[in-house]
Amino acid sequence: MENRQVLLAQRPAGWVRESDFRIAPAPVPEPADGEVLVRSRYLSLDPYMRMRMSDEPSYAPKVALGEVMVGGAVGEVLQSRSSAFKPGDCVTGPLGWQLYGALPAQRLRLIESPIAPLSAYLGVLGMPAITAWVGLDLMGPIVPGQTVVVSAASGAVGSVAGQIARMRGARAVGIAGGQQKCEHVISDLGFDACVDYKDSHLAAHLGAAVPSGIDIDFENVGGPIFDTVLAALNPFSRIALCGQVSQYNQTEPYAMRNLRSLLVNRVQLRGFIVSDHVQLWPQALAELSTWFVAGKLRYRETVAHGLDSAPGAFIAMLRGDKIGKQVVKLDDD
Ligand SMILES: NC(=O)c1ccc[n+]([C@@H]2O[C@H](COP(=O)([O-])OP(=O)(O)OC[C@H]3O[C@@H](n4cnc5c(N)ncnc54)[C@H](OP(=O)(O)O)[C@@H]3O)[C@@H](O)[C@H]2O)c1
Repeated sequence: MENRQVLLAQRPAGWVRESDFRIAPAPVPEPADGEVLVRSRYLSLDPYMRMRMSDEPSYAPKVALGEVMVGGAVGEVLQSRSSAFKPGDCVTGPLGWQLYGALPAQRLRLIESPIAPLSAYLGVLGMPAITAWVGLDLMGPIVPGQTVVVSAASGAVGSVAGQIARMRGARAVGIAGGQQKCEHVISDLGFDACVDYKDSHLAAHLGAAVPSGIDIDFENVGGPIFDTVLAALNPFSRIALCGQVSQYNQTEPYAMRNLRSLLVNRVQLRGFIVSDHVQLWPQALAELSTWFVAGKLRYRETVAHGLDSAPGAFIAMLRGDKIGKQVVKLDDD
């Protein structure tokens, strides 16, 4: 058994490049007392990783130069020095961009009797879906018929946020990049409408898609799209500020123009980080699993193959060159 790792070679300036990473062999770690050795089967690629590559202060520590990139993965227990797990168990946790990882047992979650392929535990039954659930939960009740707008609607978080909004009785309107993604958001995910932000006249198209204005904005992208959404908010509307992916590779932040809308519409804006709400995870996972089993929660994945493909797939994910949840299959490594 030989381990391989993707390390942070240098901090990106602006857009991430493959040369910001280095792939190196490493020994398979020896689990210490209370730890569990896991062979990862799928690695999750998520926008937050871009923030961890940067020097800027954030809610979580940055990855040190030469360190393994942070990341969630799902895999199989090979060796356990904890009574909580046994060899053969399927688990998920922050195992990093590598083939084998050893973690304290309390940092791993057991996947008991899987109800979906393992990769789904990184997306529609994992952290991104929980993020969608928590973000909407923090907004309080949705009155049936209210309009919820979701940006990055075809992505891992957005795809679930819109489906939950609909199940809570709202009208879900997505924003996504390109006609193909918009068709997927409407036809496969069941949103009521979807606006292609790459088409010009975003404000006009968004206005037509939300004739009664916006009651809740589930904000994933920030920048000019968020600015356009602000102008269409209703009085006493709410914003779940989940992410700002359009800004993560920018050296200069976009200067917002429509902040006045927050005041005149008495808007409630709440930034949140899903890991601050671990007490809600069991409830979120229970409801997501029930919907999943009932066939009410749809999902799509883009799968890259092999650890070496992770840097390229990560950059493609940030650029929007994928649909649904981006994972890397590590089985064949
Ligand atoms: N607060 C939390 O705890 C938490 C947890 C998880 C994720 N998040 C945030 O949630 C957001 C979505 O994450 P995800 O995992 O679901 O990623 P994702 O949506 O699956 O992938 C990112 C997508 O963002 C869109 N995008 C990229 N650059 C853009 C730009 N300049 N303008 C508009 N759209 C752009 C692209 O889709 P298009 O092709 O549609 O442009 C891209 O595929 C991110 O901001 C992430 O940081 C927050």
